[in-house]
Amino acid sequence: MILVTGGAGFIGSNFVHHWLGWTDEAVIVLDALTYAGNLENLAQVASDPRLTFVHGDLNDRALLDRMMARHRPRAVIHFAAESHVDRSIRGPEAFLRANVMGTFSLLEAVRTDWNGRAAEERSRFRFLHISTDEVYGSLEPGSPAFTEDSPFAPNSPYAASKAASDHWVRAYGRTYGLPVLVSHCSNNYGRYQFPEKLIPLVIHHALEGSPLPLYGDGAQIRDWLHVEDHCRALVRILEAGRVGETYNIGGLSERTNREVMETLCRTLDRLKPHPHGAHAEAIVTVPDRPGHDRRYAIDAGKIRRELGWEPEETFETGIEKTVRWYLDHPDWVAHVVSGTYRDWIRLHYGPAGAAAPAGS
Ligand code: NAD
Ligand code: TYD
Repeated sequence: MILVTGGAGFIGSNFVHHWLGWTDEAVIVLDALTYAGNLENLAQVASDPRLTFVHGDLNDRALLDRMMARHRPRAVIHFAAESHVDRSIRGPEAFLRANVMGTFSLLEAVRTDWNGRAAEERSRFRFLHISTDEVYGSLEPGSPAFTEDSPFAPNSPYAASKAASDHWVRAYGRTYGLPVLVSHCSNNYGRYQFPEKLIPLVIHHALEGSPLPLYGDGAQIRDWLHVEDHCRALVRILEAGRVGETYNIGGLSERTNREVMETLCRTLDRLKPHPHGAHAEAIVTVPDRPGHDRRYAIDAGKIRRELGWEPEETFETGIEKTVRWYLDHPDWVAHVVSGTYRDWIRLHYGPAGAAAPAGS
């Protein structure tokens, strides 16, 4: 079996669905069920006998030791993290604890268990660490995309915590020989994404008639990757990636934030028209995020050449699927936007939903 950390979050849960649809191999999920973790993301597979869910924190070392000893996974796919840049600006410590200390705790538990295994099992073992393109910092428009050799230059507390954890993973590979792999992906989107991130936030706000907050001039560029393409890439890396290597994963879909919002609004105008005009009329400019990276872009040439992976979705097909999924799952949205979600939106965007008092 494999162990998936953060499997109740956005990408982790998509990965669990993908895995169970692709192979017979069992999965054990470890997740602390923070505000971003949601068991409803796994509801469709909850009765699958191959899935075991463990509610627990990465920093609970005794729990990790017990899980490793009891289940002896052949691989660990490490998604669990605090993942929202804006939250990292308001409260960086949680990112240090989960992303840096949590990854360290997991590495120690894995190393201890792995050390006790037979040589053949040790060489077949894989630790796949899911990182981000944000560790490479910010690009100017027109400059070459990030490759695996781009230097780290993280700008937000979130990116710094991910970069730190990447270094720890690398060090465990080099120093202890743990068979590690690291992937750096661009911005994901798709089903089960918590509506604090741009794409589900815009869909949710448009449907409830709230303002659509565009930070700064809206000209920042992200390279959008559909989550199912990401999951396919991770399976390829796990199965055929070279131990000790890093792989960049991108969606070949660079768009400005304004373009993203306008595409979403046009799609919603078609699928769920607003009774009093175009959805784009609700776009409002709000103060920019401090330290806001201008552009991320991924050169995915290495994973294409070595592992034969390419994205199957275009931005337009992926957005269409995603909008339809949110329209078809009002109950999922209603459950996740209650309680603490509303507190976050009020804190970050103000009572009128249109002012981002940028990370004071
Ligand atoms: P998410 O916030 O939706 O989910 C994170 C999950 O981790 C949640 O289920 C949460 O409960 C769990 N978790 C958090 N802290 C934990 C802890 N201490 N112990 C155990 N579980 C804990 O995040 P996501 O968007 O699914 O991202 C998954 C991974 O992919 C993260 O490592 C993130 O850095 C990386 N990533 C995400 C994106 C993106 O666009 N979403 C892009 C690049 C990289
Ligand atoms: P986000 O989804 O938070 O991902 P990341 O910061 O990891 O790239 O944001 C994507 C882009 O959208 C980013 O440039 C910030 C911008 N953004 C807005 O313009 N308005 C918003 O309300 C949010 C949440 C993000």
